[in-house]
Amino acid sequence: MLDQQKMSHKQSRAFQADKLSPPRDFTIPEALASTKKINQPLVLEIGAGKGKHALLFASQNPNKQLIAIERTRNKFEAFSKLATEHNLTNLTPVHADAIAWIVHAIKPKSIACIYILYPNPEQHNPNQQWLNMPFFEFLLSRLSEGGEVILATNIESYMGNAQQQAKSIWCLPTLCEKVPADSQRTHFEVKYLARNETCWQLTMTKPKGYRTRFDNWVTAHKK
Ligand SMILES: C[S@@+](CC[C@H](N)C(=O)[O-])C[C@H]1O[C@@H](n2cnc3c(N)ncnc32)[C@H](O)[C@@H]1O
Repeated sequence: MLDQQKMSHKQSRAFQADKLSPPRDFTIPEALASTKKINQPLVLEIGAGKGKHALLFASQNPNKQLIAIERTRNKFEAFSKLATEHNLTNLTPVHADAIAWIVHAIKPKSIACIYILYPNPEQHNPNQQWLNMPFFEFLLSRLSEGGEVILATNIESYMGNAQQQAKSIWCLPTLCEKVPADSQRTHFEVKYLARNETCWQLTMTKPKGYRTRFDNWVTAHKK
């Protein structure tokens, strides 16, 4: 563990990775186990819903491996059915809580990009926002240098808070953009844009040499 001064961010409370059990029936997917596939950039999607973005991304990026995680059973089942029909070899749907799954499956500095599209937490509970969670430090430790976290939301206060946290707590370069009105990446995006709501996207980039307390942390499953 690094002491506070040597970290690249200003988050003091550490995520308790050691205390998190692996999800039930946890196995490492082939996309992570196979050395052939692991040579392709790995991309994660957290909260993939019924998989609209995941299917689109995997079909448009045949040279990248996408692991798309969804914890709600009925959404995951719809996603999994579509993924089977499309038979995309570079897409792995995962039914799990993303936090526990990532802790036990993903190696440090191994992910090129992480999508979190329209996470929509309870608005009165800001602790559920991804950048407010101590887990975000762990997530950053899994990202390779130069890797990106891409967050989209239609909630103005979520975007404002995320942008502020990205800068002041996580010390990350950010780019905030409006999502084009004709974008159709996810079911929620389609719904919000059809209602003429503004959607925003925040891209956060992990700088070279960025240090967290989890840079050498590997689950007991991999030791
Ligand atoms: C508002 S929906 C958005 C779904 C999709 N990204 C879209 O834009 O249409 C948020 C999704 O994130 C999933 N989710 C929230 N927290 C999660 C977690 N910790 N692990 C996996 N999925 C999660 C929820 O089950 C839900 O399906």
